Amino acid sequence: MVEGEFGREVGDMDSRELVKTAIDIKEKAYAPYSRFKVGAALVTTSGRLYTGVNIENASFGATNCAERTAIFKAVSEGETKIKAIAIASDSDDFVYPCGICRQVIAEFASDDIIIICSKNNGDFKEYTLEQLLPNAFTKIGGTE
Ligand code: THU
Repeated sequence: MVEGEFGREVGDMDSRELVKTAIDIKEKAYAPYSRFKVGAALVTTSGRLYTGVNIENASFGATNCAERTAIFKAVSEGETKIKAIAIASDSDDFVYPCGICRQVIAEFASDDIIIICSKNNGDFKEYTLEQLLPNAFTKIGGTE
């Protein structure tokens, strides 16, 4: 394992900074079909930052959302507990994670995860997982 390959160590990042990071990374979105660019930025409980963008495909169903890109990057580096995740798009309205992403967030959420939904001007609202995915279907079999 090579030091420095993992997510950048950021310790505590406040919501505004995390939104700013999601807005910046959004420009890397690969969205030639919908032209709807999405960026996500998350901090793990160990204080590491991972970012993601939506990655579309000519076979539309192969598209991956920004949130899941960021989460899969983190999990593939051994980071499985998310403290906060911010989502950004070019929309004038708040952007919210889709249903599949809410389920994936639930899988890797810390107990007090904050989900931060933002507008293109940087305004944001914070939510708990319970607010966005009440009565979530969680781990079966209790393996960890
Ligand atoms: N998208 C995301 O990246 N995250 C979401 O939570 C909602 C949708 C992307 C998928 C697709 O590339 C584009 O937005 C339009 O649906």
